[in-house]
Amino acid sequence: MPDDIAIRYAGVEKRLGRQQVLRGVDLEIRRGECLVVIGRSGGGKSVLLKHLIGLMKPDAGRIEVDGQDVVPLSEVQLVPIRKKIGIVFQGGALFDSLDVEANLAFPLREEKSIPEAEIADRVRDALDAVGMLGHEKKMPGELSGGMKKRVALARAIIRRPEAVLYDEPTTGLDPIMADSIDQLIVRTRERYGVTSVVVTHDMHSAYTIAHRIAMLHEGRIYTVDTVDRIRNSSDPVIHRFVNGISSEGPSP
Ligand SMILES: Nc1ncnc2c1ncn2[C@@H]1O[C@H](COP(=O)(O)OP(=O)(O)OP(=O)(O)O)[C@@H](O)[C@H]1O
Ligand SMILES: [Mg+2]
Repeated sequence: MPDDIAIRYAGVEKRLGRQQVLRGVDLEIRRGECLVVIGRSGGGKSVLLKHLIGLMKPDAGRIEVDGQDVVPLSEVQLVPIRKKIGIVFQGGALFDSLDVEANLAFPLREEKSIPEAEIADRVRDALDAVGMLGHEKKMPGELSGGMKKRVALARAIIRRPEAVLYDEPTTGLDPIMADSIDQLIVRTRERYGVTSVVVTHDMHSAYTIAHRIAMLHEGRIYTVDTVDRIRNSSDPVIHRFVNGISSEGPSP
């Protein structure tokens, strides 16, 4: 049923400098699911996400959002796509010179048609959803790493997107804060019914939140499978990755 597919990569290739980063990525993401993408550092996971909202263009292949190929779209044509897809960048990417409230209001003010009173309401709702009410006037520099991730998440959902992409949402956080971000990802998906794509190397987090896990390996999707099947896989590439065994060590 093609209608069940929110996002589709087909034969996506990308060379950056001298490196062939993506070598024919095929991946289908179902509407409303939480798909976790795992893979080695430097393997192209962030590059994969950037292609979806047109921040990078592939050398070959199609990338469909709701059946529409986004590859040929211009910056202006990409605006509605970027409204449909919220992204929590690796590192947060908040505006350092704007306080929390202004960071959240920014994407709404850009639309130029939303009254200030409604903007204030939606900022409050989004902060409430991530447990950050009361921190409106803080500057990003005054927030902890976990708080920054929460604000970044609030900003990604403020335009009520159909899908949210999370790039390493728990990296660098203590286990308790990481767990609370995981819960937030799950709740956001349940509350707004959003399709969620989460890039992580945190296997604990992946097992907690994923419906399915996709492994990016050597520029292709090596496998897409359920949590149980990935966790118990005897395939050496998957087994080594999920158990953190370097290829220099003894065989499993
Ligand atoms: N704008 C760019 N210009 C040139 N090379 C780039 C660019 N962005 C990424 N790369 C290269 O593409 C490769 C994949 O990068 P990417 O950031 O997607 O890795 P990743 O899988 O997200 O890694 P990590 O888990 O460490 O975040 C890397 O070798 C990186 O150096
Ligand atoms: Mg990355």
